[in-house]
Amino acid sequence: MNETSNTNIDTINSIEQNKTNQTIDRKEFMKQVGLSFGAIMLMNCLQSCGDGGDIPDPNPTNTTGKVDFTINLNDAANAALKTKGNYLVIKAQNVIIARVNDTNGTFLAVDSRCTHEQTTINYRSSSNDFYCPNHGSTFSSTGAVTKGPASLALTRFNTSFDATNNTLRVFA
Ligand code: FES
Repeated sequence: MNETSNTNIDTINSIEQNKTNQTIDRKEFMKQVGLSFGAIMLMNCLQSCGDGGDIPDPNPTNTTGKVDFTINLNDAANAALKTKGNYLVIKAQNVIIARVNDTNGTFLAVDSRCTHEQTTINYRSSSNDFYCPNHGSTFSSTGAVTKGPASLALTRFNTSFDATNNTLRVFA
């Protein structure tokens, strides 16, 4: 080999070495990008989890375990329930209480928000059921869907009437 050949071989070796270095550099680059992306995603996750807010209820219409209150039927605001066939919506609790037109004046209590689009429902004494004025869904006295478009039942609550004090407890 002459000197020119050796120089060419050195040049080729140098080019090959640069290619290898470029491959390593790319891998290193991608590794760094991956780490940065992971760090950003982790920060976003921690920020959204750590803003002090409550974890949202996955089933907002299911209020089981949260409802427990007592109303006095002697209060003017609750007087509707003294009469059979009437109903009352307790907005603060999202509960509708109906007094059935039967011998005992049975009380019914269900979630007052239609499970279709949350419209406040009414009670119909004539058919002893609940009716949504928005799209016409109906629910039985126990909250079961009897006509759509709603597809989920209303949450039903227990009632306990104290005839001596004329108070009604509604609870899950
Ligand atoms: S909101 Fe009640 S039927 Fe649509």
